[in-house]
Amino acid sequence: MNGTYTSVSFTSMFDACKPLQYTEEQQAIIQTVKADVVEHFTEQPKRLKHIEGVALCARCMAQVYGADPFICEVAGYLHDWDKYLSEEELIAQAQRYNIDMGVELQKVVPLLHGKISACKLKDVYPELPSEVFDAIDTHTTGCTQPSAESAIVYIADLIEPSRPSYNSIERIRSLVGTVGLDELYLEAFKSTLLYLIQANKYVWPQALVIYNELIK
Ligand SMILES: [Fe+2]
Ligand SMILES: [Fe+2]
Repeated sequence: MNGTYTSVSFTSMFDACKPLQYTEEQQAIIQTVKADVVEHFTEQPKRLKHIEGVALCARCMAQVYGADPFICEVAGYLHDWDKYLSEEELIAQAQRYNIDMGVELQKVVPLLHGKISACKLKDVYPELPSEVFDAIDTHTTGCTQPSAESAIVYIADLIEPSRPSYNSIERIRSLVGTVGLDELYLEAFKSTLLYLIQANKYVWPQALVIYNELIK
């Protein structure tokens, strides 16, 4: 990730978003993906609002940080596709896709939906670039060397406008457009890690490995 960015605040970022120069093909893909997501989440209006918030926030952040807005927006729309599978179904599908988390799947159920959706949606949308699926894959777990697009989707998932204004979230929002993407990603990753520890929740051991790499 390069360290350049446009100076902007979180709230003004949405107004400052430049009109996008999507190709006709990209526009058609966005329309299809958006319509599919709206249909998939008709019963979950709150989740749909979150998803639309992530897609918009990721697209705007891509413009602030010089990343690919198309990849960020599409991954934003698709990132939570499997969020509503039951715990049993998440584990069954993770096994079906040979997802190896290095620990019992039962311990990391909240992390599985990103990995499952990345595997599944590759077949549904073969026309999409692989970076979209990388961003979906790592939006729950983070990773040691994210692409700018993966980092942006991870951060947008945490801070999109419909998330409640907790202090920890406001702090990350205040850093958008004032620090580089590396630092912003590390702060977002730390915020998730600290939340888990404070709430006495299980921490996936690999998360500490990622943290140790990110602080290097
Ligand atoms: Fe998610
Ligand atoms: Fe999400």
